Amino acid sequence: MAVGPPGAAPNAEQRAQWGGDLGLLWAARAAQFEASAAGYDALLLEAAELAPGLQVLDVGCGTGSVTRKAAAAVAPDGTATGVDISGPMLQVAWDRSAGLGGVTFLEADAQVHDFAGRYDRVISRSGVMFFGDPPAAFANLARALRPGGRVAFVVWRSVAENAWMHQLMRALTGRMPPEPPPGPGAFGLADPERARALLEGAGLAEVGVEPCAAPVVLGRDVEEAFGLVRQILAGGLDGLGPADRERAIVALRAVLAEGAGPDGVALGSAAWLLTGRAL
Ligand SMILES: C[S@@+](CC[C@H](N)C(=O)[O-])C[C@H]1O[C@@H](n2cnc3c(N)ncnc32)[C@H](O)[C@@H]1O
Repeated sequence: MAVGPPGAAPNAEQRAQWGGDLGLLWAARAAQFEASAAGYDALLLEAAELAPGLQVLDVGCGTGSVTRKAAAAVAPDGTATGVDISGPMLQVAWDRSAGLGGVTFLEADAQVHDFAGRYDRVISRSGVMFFGDPPAAFANLARALRPGGRVAFVVWRSVAENAWMHQLMRALTGRMPPEPPPGPGAFGLADPERARALLEGAGLAEVGVEPCAAPVVLGRDVEEAFGLVRQILAGGLDGLGPADRERAIVALRAVLAEGAGPDGVALGSAAWLLTGRAL
């Protein structure tokens, strides 16, 4: 388990990435990233059984779109708190939430922060796959709940089931990408049995692991989508020679053009909806 050297702060690598270039990219393109997975929001919020007056914790909230939707669902007396390790993303979360009641943000590592058992719901849209010590992290999130409280998390299924990932990577490299090795990362909870075991191991009851699917929308049109993809894949593209880079750009644009429709540039995606209840 990637927990780092003894005495080191946990999740140092993730903190560096999300607090550094990756977080800055998400912060700069907040609207696009927020919209990209919005197809899962209604499902997530419904599974969380939100109701006015509840206290909600949104884990790995990023720039806060789900936190804001949760706050609206628990208004007028409830609150939604977004927790994240990325300073740049939280700055944007605060900016985009200006003037909204019941929304607050906290910069902390959700794996270890003491949430003092004060939440009725703990939710996340693709923010719980990055823990270096998942058993410790999910136990900590379970402790954040009051008795009877619920969790609802959306996490990606495998790369092979996520066209948005494997089509773009194949366009870049010319090959089907392998599944990433176990460890923190976007596909870190792709194995449903492992996800179930983590929630049950955290002491949650009535654990559910249900497949769900929605398009990932990368932009309103091909140009906007390519701008995002170009930045996400900058490392891969810049490492290619001129001819291969040109080939990859043509292939990437072709994937995006194929996904273009009235609702923007949409590629297929697949996730697990994880649910559970605190005893
Ligand atoms: C893929 S982004 C998802 C952001 C947001 N939930 C959304 O759907 O737009 C993952 C988020 O998890 C955050 N994160 C990663 N590890 C974390 C940790 N240990 N504690 C809190 N947040 C974490 C990252 O900073 C990042 O904002």
